[in-house]
Parts: sequence; C-alpha cells; structure tokens
Amino acid sequence: MLGVFDSGVGGLTVVKELRRLIPQTSIIYVGDTARAPYGGKDEQILFIYGREIIRFLLKKGAKAIVMACGTSSSVSLEPLRKEFPGLPIIDTIRPAVKTTLLLAQQSHDFKPVFAATETTVKSGVFQKLFYEEEKNCKLYVRACPLFAPMVEAGLTKNNPLLNFAAENYFSDLRGKVNALILGCTHYPLLTDALTRTLGEIIFINPATATAEATREILPPPPENSPAIIEYYTSGNPKNFAKIAQFILNEKCTAKKASF
Ligand code: DGL
Repeated sequence: MLGVFDSGVGGLTVVKELRRLIPQTSIIYVGDTARAPYGGKDEQILFIYGREIIRFLLKKGAKAIVMACGTSSSVSLEPLRKEFPGLPIIDTIRPAVKTTLLLAQQSHDFKPVFAATETTVKSGVFQKLFYEEEKNCKLYVRACPLFAPMVEAGLTKNNPLLNFAAENYFSDLRGKVNALILGCTHYPLLTDALTRTLGEIIFINPATATAEATREILPPPPENSPAIIEYYTSGNPKNFAKIAQFILNEKCTAKKASF
C-alpha cells in the first residue's frame, strides 16, 4: 500500500501517473484541503502537517510515501525522512530536476521557467539542484500563489480569472522561454491558460519521473490482487470528490480524515 498526500487535489495529477505506471499498486490518498493552500506556509508548519498525515497513512497500512506536493517536497523531505527512519519517502522536486536536466542536456535551445508556489521558490531547492549540474542554461523562476487556490475552487479550463493570473505571472516571458516546469502538482491542470499566455511550449510534469522513482523502490505487488484506491480529505469529502472526479475522469468518493 502506497500513501500519497498533497494539500488538496493537486496530488491527483501524480496519482494518475502512479496508476498508469504501477497499476497493481494500492493507493491511499490524503488531500489536506482543510489546511490548503500550503504554498505560502513555512517549513515548521509544513513539517508538522506532513508528520500528522504520514502517521495517519501508516495507521492505514502505507509502506511507502509519495509527497505529491512540491511545497512539502521542497522544505520537508529531509526532516520527514529523519522523523521516519526506514520509511521510503519519494518527493516531486528531485524528479522534476532530473527531467529538466535531461532536457537541458539534450537541447542547446532550452529556455526553461520553473513555476511553483512561493515557499517552493523561496526555498531555492530546485534552483540549487539544477545549477549544481547545469551551469550554462538560464533558469527563469516564477512564484504563482493564486494558481493552487484557483484549482481547489474548480477553475481549470478557459476561465477569465485564470487567464488573467497567467498573464500577470508570465506575459513578460513570452518569447523568452520555451519550456515550463510544473513545479506544483496543481499546475498540470492549468496548461490551457499557460499556453494561452506563453504560446506552444514544452510542459515538464514531474509526475512521470515521480512515478518512475516510486516504481524503483516499491516491491512488486502480489499478483492477481486488484489495486484498491482510497481517497481521504481533511476538508469536505463531497467537494473533494467533485473536483477529483473531474481530474481523474472517473467516479470517485472520498472519506473524511482527521489527524
Ligand atoms: N500542490 C502543492 C504543491 O505541489 C501545494 C499547493 C498549495 O497548496 O499551495 O506545491
């Protein structure tokens, strides 16, 4: 059983990839909607939230954890690994760096912008890991604090508020970048608005590399046992299920989690 968590529905973009790459693995997902957004919160509070959620997931039988949240990944990975020695914990930021570096090495005309929450951008973790390996490529960076709350409110497709926010964050980069790293797990749901502002660019979704990293550390699941997927939220289960259904494109129900 794999435990997966995020501040809300964004981590479902990672669940999609996990289910594509390791379909036999059972997943228990927590969206901490009651305390979302995580994007402007500090390290100490995110550590406490992460610890509570991991304890909850362990009680439910999780044997490994995916932090399907770029914000928690950027500030809480090491502290949570220390807090739970021996528990495999996979994050989304290191896989995002790995994919970006591969593309940077493959192309001389790679002009990326890293888009993420305020806390992720301020942590500087992505930038540090990227520049450690790649000195010649300029990396633009943008914090987009309005995006995750908009997704939680159900705004994804062609919505004027969303288009306005995207314009506000990225219009000055039009023509200067040709790739965008979706550094927050909510952002793969916003590619329409981002394409509207930035034109046809490459989107780097860390969910795929995160699912690959998870596949490497998981023991093979027992054969012929159907995967179970359970969704929990600290917020309103009906509201969560409504947005989750739209993201996963299938019927889904959620239960209330209290930590
Ligand atoms: N989806 C999360 C992330 O990847 C958190 C966004 C938020 O709650 O602000 O950063």
